[in-house]
Parts: sequence; C-alpha cells; structure tokens
Amino acid sequence: MPLPLETERLLIRPLRMDDLEPFHAVFGDPQVMARIPSGVSRDLDHSHERLAWLIEHNDRHGFSLWAIEERETGEMIGDCGLVLVEGKGTEVELAYHLARSRWGRGYGGEAAGAVVDYGLDELGLDEIIAVAETDHFVSRRVMEKVGMHFDGRGIYYGKEMARYVIRGSGEVA
Ligand SMILES: CC(C)(COP(=O)(O)OP(=O)(O)OC[C@H]1O[C@@H](n2cnc3c(N)ncnc32)[C@H](O)[C@@H]1OP(=O)(O)O)[C@@H](O)C(=O)NCCC(=O)NCCS
Repeated sequence: MPLPLETERLLIRPLRMDDLEPFHAVFGDPQVMARIPSGVSRDLDHSHERLAWLIEHNDRHGFSLWAIEERETGEMIGDCGLVLVEGKGTEVELAYHLARSRWGRGYGGEAAGAVVDYGLDELGLDEIIAVAETDHFVSRRVMEKVGMHFDGRGIYYGKEMARYVIRGSGEVA
C-alpha cells in the first residue's frame, strides 16, 4: 500500500512545500518542540529549511516525516514518519509532532501505528527505533502502544534517551 496511509481519523501523506504554514504552526510552537533535541524553529525561514530538508530526505530515502491530515477537517495537524536517526542513520527512527490543539485524542498512537506498519511491511525495514527523553512519558506511551519494546537507555542527540525498538518479523527486539 503506497502513501497516503489512511487510518480511522487520519490521512498520512508526503509533505509539500505548500504545507509551510501548518508545518510552522507545529515546529514554531515552543510547547510542541519542548522535548525535541533540535528545538523550536527560530522563525518561518527556519521552518522552511526544515521542510525542504524533510522533502529531500523523502526523495532520497523513500521515507521521511510525513504530513498528518485530520480527515474530518482536511487540516494538516502535524507530522509523523521515519527519519535517519540524528539525520544520518544508520538506524531509522520513528518521530511525531502534533499541534497542541490535537493532543490527547489518540491521534499520536493512531498515526505512529500506521507508520510503523508501513515501515516494516511496505518499506521492508528490519528494525525501527524511537527515542525520547527518559521522563517524556506521553511519547514513551505512544511507543509502547504501537508495539515497541523498551531497549534501555542510549546517547542520542547528545543526551541520554530512552530507546525503543520494533523488529520486522512482528516480534519485538
Ligand atoms: C507525543 C504526542 C504526539 C502524543 O500525541 P497524542 O495524540 O496526545 O498521544 P495519544 O493520545 O495517542 O497517546 C498518549 C498516551 O500517553 C498517555 N499519557 C498522557 N499523559 C501521560 C503521562 N503523564 N504519563 C504517562 N502516560 C501519559 C495517554 O493516556 C495515552 O495513553 P493511552 O492511550 O494508553 O491512554 C504529542 O504529545 C506531541 O505532539 N508532543 C510534542 C512533540 C513530541 O514531544 N514528540 C515526541 C518526541 S520524542
């Protein structure tokens, strides 16, 4: 099944440069980005650079962060996808960011579950990891909800992070 991915309430599709405004609403929000190592966008130009980088990442590797659209409204409300960890790999990392107005509705788990299935079943990745600050319990719960297994702590993005893994056979690491 190619993109877009459809879930009960969401549609997940590649990012486009004309997503800049809703993309910046997420990446430019200090509360959304508080736990993200690369931090909040400094300004619209910074979000523009990030968006272009992510589109290029998709062209190059066949995966990236993708836009999450809310099917009921058609609005882009965040992103979820797969990126080379620390921007260089070799591990492939699940990541997600939602507009604050959409937190607490189960959208994070819904999007992440579809992306993990796509990465393992359609892209044929052997393994997907996810990392979060050790006390970022909401994100860690999303990782658990999509079947990822806590695999100890590791240094990522220069910080000690909780590391989660899921492997392609459907079995946890
Ligand atoms: C992480 C994020 C995508 C979660 O989205 P969401 O749609 O609110 O998440 P969900 O509703 O699918 O799931 C959240 C889970 O955490 C649980 N939770 C909420 N607060 C919690 C807490 N303090 N401790 C433990 N679990 C908590 C919820 O109960 C829910 O679990 P449940 O479905 O078993 O009840 C959203 O908070 C976000 O965009 N945060 C900013 C970006 C970010 O930090 N991304 C991750 C970087 S590692």
